[in-house]
Amino acid sequence: PSKNFKKVKHKTAMLSLGNAFSEEDLINFEKKILNFLNIKSEYNIEFSAEPKIDGISASLFYKDGKFVQGLSRGDGQVGEDITENLKTLRDVPITLPKGVPDIVEIRGEVYMAHDDFETLNRQQSDKGRKTFANPRNAAAGSLRQLDTKITASRPLKFFAYTWGEMSEMPGDTQSEMMACFDAWGFTVNPDFKVCENVDALNKHWQDIEERRSMLGYDIDGMVYKIDRLDWQSRLGFVSRAPRWAIAHKFPAEKAITKLLDIDIQVGRTGALTPVAKLKKVTV
Ligand code: IVH
Repeated sequence: PSKNFKKVKHKTAMLSLGNAFSEEDLINFEKKILNFLNIKSEYNIEFSAEPKIDGISASLFYKDGKFVQGLSRGDGQVGEDITENLKTLRDVPITLPKGVPDIVEIRGEVYMAHDDFETLNRQQSDKGRKTFANPRNAAAGSLRQLDTKITASRPLKFFAYTWGEMSEMPGDTQSEMMACFDAWGFTVNPDFKVCENVDALNKHWQDIEERRSMLGYDIDGMVYKIDRLDWQSRLGFVSRAPRWAIAHKFPAEKAITKLLDIDIQVGRTGALTPVAKLKKVTV
């Protein structure tokens, strides 16, 4: 991994998200929105919902339909120029179809799928090289290589989920924007969905939580965004996070492993404490 990438200021900052850990947090999130927009509480606000990918965020800048610059998030204000490395990803189109706005900046997450991560680690250890602790580290290390050939040999993927600068807005809602990104050749998460109210968000959250270990890549929650873009604009930001979006986190991941042995530790007073020896498992 290299520290030698050129630093570039983001034209619009790459923000973070507030967190919700319970249904109560979510109800409060909606209440604040209704208050801010001065909307009656009976009114249902539509939200988009999609998995929160545990990867590395990146921004892809297109001018006249050509990919010209790719940046890492960095501190959100200034990122690193990783254009050449991002060009090696299959999910990053080099040219966009005719008719797209002159300036398009797509933002999303670079990640490594579980099976690709395992294959990479096997190859690394066969070659006597360092293995990676988890798919996120593998994605980060693979993206920050000065030798583009190394990045090209790594199985990195990209989900588009938001945008930065756009010379023209091709949609009025989050879901219309995602449909455009999909039509332009980007990969949008297949579990992206518009939900008609908070109950529907919770249902989708539960469904994904149940399927979490089968998705094939790491996620740590769901991200909800108000679907209407005019409402997103009215709500704006507080410190570094939008008022119109939130990350609904999953409880700590559970895993099943094997009990290999039980040691009995003898304390000073003679108390016996059984200690489980577990087969190593990464969560
Ligand atoms: S939306 C203004 N959607 O989570 C909101 N972020 O904790 C922009 N992330 O820095 C972010 N999956 O790197 C959004 N589906 C998703 C996401 C997502 C992962 C990351 C992103 C962001 C961080 C915030």
